[in-house]
Amino acid sequence: MELEGRTVLLGVSGSIAAYKAVELASRLRKAGASVHVVMTQNATRFVSPLTFETISRNPVHVDPFAPAQWEPEHTALADRADLFVVAPATANILAKFAHGIADDLLSTLYLAARCPILVAPAMNVYMYRNPAVQENLERLRARGVKIAEPEEGMLACGYEGQGRLQEVERLVETIVQLARGLEAPRDWEGVSVLVTAGPTREPIDPVRFLSNRSSGKMGYAIAEEAALRGAQVVLVSGPTQLPSPPNVRRIQVESAEEMARAVEQTAGSAQVIFLAAAVADFTPVEVSPHKLKKGTAETWTLTLRKTPDIAASLGQRKGDRVLIGFAAETDDPIANARRKLTEKRLDLIVLNRVNEPGAGFEVDTNRVTLIFPDGTVEEWPLLDKREVARRLLSIVRDRLLVSSSPVAG
Ligand code: PMT
Repeated sequence: MELEGRTVLLGVSGSIAAYKAVELASRLRKAGASVHVVMTQNATRFVSPLTFETISRNPVHVDPFAPAQWEPEHTALADRADLFVVAPATANILAKFAHGIADDLLSTLYLAARCPILVAPAMNVYMYRNPAVQENLERLRARGVKIAEPEEGMLACGYEGQGRLQEVERLVETIVQLARGLEAPRDWEGVSVLVTAGPTREPIDPVRFLSNRSSGKMGYAIAEEAALRGAQVVLVSGPTQLPSPPNVRRIQVESAEEMARAVEQTAGSAQVIFLAAAVADFTPVEVSPHKLKKGTAETWTLTLRKTPDIAASLGQRKGDRVLIGFAAETDDPIANARRKLTEKRLDLIVLNRVNEPGAGFEVDTNRVTLIFPDGTVEEWPLLDKREVARRLLSIVRDRLLVSSSPVAG
């Protein structure tokens, strides 16, 4: 009973796939969840509320002005929910969510909900590809809403392509995963955390830049885990392909200078800063406003200048903030990481041996060594980056935060 004790608010909007939500409601109930269904008026044209009432064994909510439901039902349902799942989500309901329109019970509940939200779009393939829909999804993603991407296949409209509601089996798996997140300890409650992640891009001209292989996975895992455990998290991210972790405020940057500015603006309120970004150390002195031509020369010399060292500048005005740096090293790793720990006045440095298989850039796993200013060295085995994040947060919480921050005590 993986969802025992959990309340799932299931929103159903007007798509032919609404009939699949009946199976979803049934599976969620069998997994132990208390399921409360909210339907749009259009959804009731596809499936009767009575069907959901029978399956969920709870009243179904449609009309925000229904006498029995009006009393602040729209917020009460949102308050009660551990998880909010909208399946199927039409283009229309996604647009309302993305733009804060609250003209029915479901869209009102979306605005009032504070729990993790999963939306499962289902629609015609061309509607799904339409930039309006994609932009709305992007907005929701950036706000931490989890999207269960529709699947490819034959659609009810007769076309073939991406637009089919994700299989119920997969949706249940995702919901169970989200519920597991709710079980995380709340030991970072009330702590403000700043995380830098991903690479930076240093422009050469309008089409070229200097960058590195960081995917952002390590930093995003830390941001996600810290938020799950109750921290208020700001994530300053270079360009990545990753969706925003739920309940994290993401600030998107490109260059090292932009990252330095974003950190400058947000570090003031941060008690703990994880510097997982792979920040370029140098940037071109000149950025051409026009695409540089290849010409006839066989070589090309770029003149570079140093970028601001974000970690070092935070270290210089540290106060009682906890600073955790990362080091991606290939040669003499311990000595190099130790030097960075001292020079940047960090409280801990997490060393990645980036030339080891399964560690460092891009991959989902990492093998790290923790080095503390008192000389203590802790070697960890190869772990999933999420597990590295989990253990790291526990260590920082127990060894560094308690002594430095009264808020966290
Ligand atoms: O993003 P992934 O693909 O998951 O990969 C994760 C990672 C390998 C990028 C990450 O775990 C990591 O090691 N990040 C630091 C990369 C690095 O090379 O750092 P560095 O040795 O250049 O710098 C040391 C520390 O100073 C880092 O915390 C860095 O964020 C910081 N720094 C560096 C330069 C600079 N101008 N400003 C900084 O703040």
